[in-house]
Amino acid sequence: MSAGNETREHWSGPVGFVLAAVGSAVGLGNVWKFPYITGINGGGAFVLVYLGCIAVVGLPLLIAEMSIGRRSQKEPVGAFSSLAHAGRGGKLWGIFGWLAVVTAFLLLSFYSVVGGWTIGYFIKAVSGTFTPEAAASSGEIFDTFVSDPVQSTIYHAIFMAACIGVVLGGVSRGIERAARVLMPVFAVLLLVLLGYSLTLDGAGEALRFMFYPDFSKLTPAAVLEALGHSFFTLSLGMGVMIVYGSYLSKQDSVFKSGLAVSIADTLIALAAGVTIFGIVFSAGKEPGSGAGLVFITLPSLFAQLPAGSLWAAIFFLLLGFAALTSGMSILEVAVAYFVDERGKSRKVATLTFGGIIFALGLLSVLSFSVLSDVHLMTVGQGDELKDLTVFDTLDYLISNWALTLGGLGVALYAGWGVSRDDLWDELKDDALGKAGFAGWFLITRFVAPVAVILVLLHSVGVV
Ligand code: PHE
Ligand code: NA
Repeated sequence: MSAGNETREHWSGPVGFVLAAVGSAVGLGNVWKFPYITGINGGGAFVLVYLGCIAVVGLPLLIAEMSIGRRSQKEPVGAFSSLAHAGRGGKLWGIFGWLAVVTAFLLLSFYSVVGGWTIGYFIKAVSGTFTPEAAASSGEIFDTFVSDPVQSTIYHAIFMAACIGVVLGGVSRGIERAARVLMPVFAVLLLVLLGYSLTLDGAGEALRFMFYPDFSKLTPAAVLEALGHSFFTLSLGMGVMIVYGSYLSKQDSVFKSGLAVSIADTLIALAAGVTIFGIVFSAGKEPGSGAGLVFITLPSLFAQLPAGSLWAAIFFLLLGFAALTSGMSILEVAVAYFVDERGKSRKVATLTFGGIIFALGLLSVLSFSVLSDVHLMTVGQGDELKDLTVFDTLDYLISNWALTLGGLGVALYAGWGVSRDDLWDELKDDALGKAGFAGWFLITRFVAPVAVILVLLHSVGVV
């Protein structure tokens, strides 16, 4: 029996699970990445495509991951190699489990560096760095900050230590408890900041920018970016939701939980976008400033506002909390593998692999200083070529390739590898109903893989 593991840890209940999963989903992707890629891609039309990707591909795959996790009661490698008969690929599927574990290591190694920046920026805000006089030099402040290897290493270490500390506590007493405290605080801080932003002059323009679609601004590359981001933002394609689903008990509803997680993640991304663009437009700035939007543009704007340091402190604190609840979910993927498959204790696995990820992250830390001239690859076309540092390369390969391939693996595995009856057994008590299940299965089997393959082919220039 697949669900016969008596000693396996579980969430305390459905609310704990949803909070932990929302904690994983809501992260830098919502508050840092979504606003800046929306800004680069021209606003409303991109937002619409993104919402479409969430509804058509993201939510179905989220449900697929959770179902696979609960069905197998295993981490990704075990989950991918235990549910398919030999005639349907059998253990071969395990490759996708491996991809997930390797991706977890690499992703957390650079996610933690950015998580560290949020701590550094919180401290900067509290100590009054963002004065009106400093407003013009926020770019230099950022460059000086990231190019100081010692400081960045310390903040990266603090962030990893926090992830390790939580994951050491286990599923319900570590991860769930942290999410129960951090997510509500996060939500309140975001609402406060949103309310504030809506009182500014730029609020109307921010709403128009985000919700009034201008399809002439939409490029094919933007569609790929929207799809890739729909995976990233829901923590898909990397086994997190498989692992979290494996700690979900049989009575709880996979469908309702998945729906709640994707709605919460989407609302939070939209709220973060409106908040940030409200501030940006109020200062008469452009929305398309790229990855520096949160760490360069925003600080200079906070600096010009009354009580700006306070708002900046609130902002970076909430960003840090969001990053932490995501970071710990990534670490849990690696830890669960070594606990479940290799018989390590949680303590040994967490300390060892947290330590390795920390060490790996040093390459990303140093990408902004000592290793800034080391370029692993070049992307782009024509005169828009960009040389990628170690940090950029990891971000590019993972966000655009590893998660998308991982998501494809989930769709193919659920659609073609796992038996339909097993999946029905996981979803039958749900609000989904028979017709809803059939629709979900069709999407998972055909629509999601085709969409992902088309987008992947397109990104290498084939279609
Ligand atoms: N969903 C997280 C975010 O939006 C990032 C993440 C991706 C976390 C993959 C876990 C796995 O920031
Ligand atoms: Na997210």
